Amino acid sequence: MNHLVLSTSLSPTSRSRILARAAYERLPDSDSTQWMDLQDEGLPLCDGGPSADDRVDRLRRGVAQADGILIAFGIYNYLAPAATKNILEWAGRASFEGKVVAFAAVGGGPGSLPSVASLTTPMLLDFGAVVCPSFVYTTGASFADDALVDPNIESRLDEFVSTWTTLTQRVRAGDQHA
Ligand SMILES: Cc1cc2nc3c(=O)[nH]c(=O)nc-3n(C[C@H](O)[C@H](O)[C@H](O)COP(=O)(O)O)c2cc1C
Repeated sequence: MNHLVLSTSLSPTSRSRILARAAYERLPDSDSTQWMDLQDEGLPLCDGGPSADDRVDRLRRGVAQADGILIAFGIYNYLAPAATKNILEWAGRASFEGKVVAFAAVGGGPGSLPSVASLTTPMLLDFGAVVCPSFVYTTGASFADDALVDPNIESRLDEFVSTWTTLTQRVRAGDQHA
């Protein structure tokens, strides 16, 4: 299995990046894994054209190679931020089709949890991805000094990564009851 963790926040003090990294570190050793951080990628904004850009090609290759993709993001105005949506626009629906896509998000408060649907809906209804039914949502209260310090979220991450990777394996194996 190939699992890609995409950290999409452009904030240098990103908390969702910490969450994404913690999920990445929980991936099984047996899997081949990819870590991609949009802070390092410098992706241009999608203009709808056929980009001949190394940065876009790298993103497309990463998504194409993955069986399972975790997208981590912070909540901006009750939606996924523009930088997060930009990866969907560049990579395109075909590269997500049939992949098991999972989400991990950080908001400023607990009330924005339903904002995760701003990505699950297009993934499910338009992109033809298999959306992992488990996701992680938390707030700044789970972090201190650039570290995740919330034992509840730590154990939620354990369960979440296990659900995501097991589902990826089953979907890849063609299990109709996955
Ligand atoms: C422009 C902007 C809009 C935001 N809108 C929301 C919001 O609608 N709901 C919420 O819970 N938090 C909101 N926040 C707080 C962020 O979700 C929070 O700071 C989170 O940690 C951002 O993710 P990051 O740290 O990975 O960049 C907003 C922050 C910014 C900068």
